[in-house]
Amino acid sequence: MEKQTTYNKNLVVIIAAVAATGGLLFGFDTGVISGAIPFFQQDFQLSNSMVENITTAGLIGAVIGAMFTGRLSDIFGRRKTILGAAIIFVVGAAWSGWAPNPTDLILARLFIGLAIGISSFSVPLYIAEISPTKMRGRLVSLFQLLITIGILVSYLSDLAFANNDVLSSWRPMFYAGMIPGFILLIGMLFLPETPRWLMSKGREEESRKILQRIEEPALVEESIQRMKQEIEQDKEKAGLREIFRPWLRTALIIAVGIMFFQQFVGINTVIYYSPKIFMIVGFEGARAGIWGAVSVGVINVLFTILSLFMIDRLGRRKLYFIGLSGIVISLMALGMVFAFHTALGDTGKWMAIAFVWIYIAFFAISLGPLGWLIISEIFPLRVRGIGTSIGSLSNWFFNGVVAFTFFKIVKLFTASGTGIITHEKIYDATTHTFVTKAIDNGNPAGAFWLYAFIGVLGLIWGYYYLPETKDVPLEKIEEHWRKGGKPRDLKK
Ligand code: BGC
Repeated sequence: MEKQTTYNKNLVVIIAAVAATGGLLFGFDTGVISGAIPFFQQDFQLSNSMVENITTAGLIGAVIGAMFTGRLSDIFGRRKTILGAAIIFVVGAAWSGWAPNPTDLILARLFIGLAIGISSFSVPLYIAEISPTKMRGRLVSLFQLLITIGILVSYLSDLAFANNDVLSSWRPMFYAGMIPGFILLIGMLFLPETPRWLMSKGREEESRKILQRIEEPALVEESIQRMKQEIEQDKEKAGLREIFRPWLRTALIIAVGIMFFQQFVGINTVIYYSPKIFMIVGFEGARAGIWGAVSVGVINVLFTILSLFMIDRLGRRKLYFIGLSGIVISLMALGMVFAFHTALGDTGKWMAIAFVWIYIAFFAISLGPLGWLIISEIFPLRVRGIGTSIGSLSNWFFNGVVAFTFFKIVKLFTASGTGIITHEKIYDATTHTFVTKAIDNGNPAGAFWLYAFIGVLGLIWGYYYLPETKDVPLEKIEEHWRKGGKPRDLKK
């Protein structure tokens, strides 16, 4: 008995470590591009719209990856799917670093995007199915934390490689992603398949053996019976058609809606473009820009940790309204700073950085973790997989739309003569020297005000649609939808 308990814990630690690498990679490959942009933009002499294409390519890959994972992981198993993703992470990182031209870079980012999409799904699925029942919930909310840590690690590794005088600095930034990829690959080779997937393939004995290693001995047979029942129920489910039934419409609106607002307050313009934003605001050189991004990453991690403690105490609705109000106010302020940047001079630079920090802190305690948490809570068990995947797909889709349109919106809302000029070192291929060139970046004030406006719409939407799921058993949520109940009455 004693031996079993020790073994149990060790295995759970290993599982958590592998999960950490999956989440880390997700975050790493989301964030790594931000520090690389100023370098490959100069190296390849790219326009801002080409930069958008490269950033967006990764997101398109993620959408595709998220879309097909469910099926792939049902056919080949969770473990093989993650192994596949790990291989794509390694190859994609190598390809990104090696890319001889912008087209290759687009393809490489698209390719690695597949792995991001696949892992955003299969890693949590793997953890949920293999963890002892008691630890499952905690590990789900930990996933967001690991994403943010991954983003921070990518900023730090960008910083380590960023050298203002070496244009190819972006290459090692991408190569660095091979390391966590290898760790995930090797780690997964030693981890077992999930008992639930094995069971669904009729491999009861193998399933039992793994359960005996991870679950308390007394619970093994019970788990097997429960799995058998679930598999029977699953056979009846109508799949995609079921999720579009009228009584589930509210849940669907909530899943797509929360991801819409999570992305359309512009979070990833800050995550991807923050070095650029800090350069626009007057910090000189790509390195200084990346330092700004590191500060954003640290605040993101710290406030995500804080949110883990608050989410079950304050509840979802309170956090949503506090967080989103803070986001709206800081976006409006940020817009003001940019609109009046000439008058504000050097003070404006520090005000901008302060408001970006406040913005990130409010996001990290609210929309960041809430998006992923809510989509995993509001669907009945039978359609939770499909429901969650629709939420996740929406996330990547909206993310892509925002990334793709950011610079275009900036340009659209820039009144003539208000564009912010930066002086950036550009490599001149004919003379083989660096020349300083003035670049008109437009003025992001209007873009930030637009995101603030969408945030206000999000407050109104949330009043009607955001359910308080704190302390509500999942079965009760299903019952509430079946009765045609309103989201905001859920707690009553
Ligand atoms: C979002 C990502 C974002 C991250 C930032 C996540 O919840 O889905 O798009 O980059 O938070 O921490």
